[in-house]
Amino acid sequence: MRISVCGKGGSGKSTVVALLAEALCLKGFRVLVVDADESNSGLFRMLGLEHAPVPLMELVGGKKELLQKMISTFSSKEPRGRMDVLTDDRILVRDIPRHCTAYRGNLRLVNVGKILEPLEGCACPMGVLSQEFLRKLSMDNGEIAIVDMEAGIEHFGRGVETSIDTVLVVVEPSMESLELAAKVKHLAAGAGVSSTWALLNKVTSDELAQKLRQELDRRGLEAIGIIHQHPEIFEACLEGHKVDGETARREIGEVVDHLLAR
Ligand SMILES: Nc1ncnc2c1ncn2[C@@H]1O[C@H](COP(=O)(O)OP(=O)(O)OP(=O)(O)O)[C@@H](O)[C@H]1O
Ligand SMILES: [Mg+2]
Repeated sequence: MRISVCGKGGSGKSTVVALLAEALCLKGFRVLVVDADESNSGLFRMLGLEHAPVPLMELVGGKKELLQKMISTFSSKEPRGRMDVLTDDRILVRDIPRHCTAYRGNLRLVNVGKILEPLEGCACPMGVLSQEFLRKLSMDNGEIAIVDMEAGIEHFGRGVETSIDTVLVVVEPSMESLELAAKVKHLAAGAGVSSTWALLNKVTSDELAQKLRQELDRRGLEAIGIIHQHPEIFEACLEGHKVDGETARREIGEVVDHLLAR
C-alpha cells in the first residue's frame, strides 16, 4: 500500500506521517517513509532518526544533471548499477542504497531532494523524481510506503499521485484547510487514486470536531480520524524531538485500524 499525506501548509502532514509510520511499525509492517517535501528538512527528527539520508537526487547526479541524465540514460543500452531510478523497471525497498536511507527498526526514510541554493531553479525535477520513484517502487507484502508531500496541491499537477492507493488529507481547523481538502479530493480522483480521506488535526474540542465533520460532509469528504491539539506534539516539534504522545498514539492507532480495514 502507498499512502500519500497532503494538505495545507502547516496543517500537520509531517506530524501525521511520523505518527502513522510508528503505528504501522508497531503493527509489524515494514514502513518506507518518502520525504517528497523539497522545503522542510526535519522529518528525520520527527521520526526519531539521527540523521537525514542522502537525497535520491544525488543518485541521479543532482538536480542540474537530471535532465541531461534522463536523455542519455533513456537512449543508452548499457547495464546500470544496483538501483537506477531512471532506467530500472522496478525498485525494491532493499535495493535502495544504504546511504540514501536512514533507518530505525522496521522504519526506513528516503528523501527525494531539497532546494538548497538561491536561484537554483524550480522544484520540478524533484517532482519528476518522486513520480518515477513511486511509480517503480515495488512493495512486498508487509511493506507500506507513506509519502510526506509538499504543502498545497502542486504535486497533483506534477503527477506524483498517479501510483498512490490512498490519499490522506490533513485538515486543521480553518476554512482554507477545508477548502483545500475539497480540492484534493477532486484532484486525487482525477489522478486515479482509489480512496481519499480527511484526517482532522489540531482539534481542541468535541464541538469543533463535530463542526469540522459537518463541513467535510458538505464537501463530500469523510474524516477517517481525529488527532487533537497535543502540547507534547507542539513541544516535540519545537525541540526537534521525535513526535509522540500517549493520546496521539491511541488516536492514530484508530486511524490505522480504519485504513487497514478498508
Ligand atoms: N496535533 C498537534 N498538536 C499540537 N501541535 C501540532 C499538532 N500537529 C501539528 N502541530 C504543530 O503544527 C506545526 C506544523 O506541523 P507539521 O510540520 O507537521 O505540519 P506540515 O503540514 O508538515 O507543515 P509543512 O507544510 O511546513 O510541511 C508543528 O510544528 C507543531 O507545532
Ligand atoms: Mg511537513
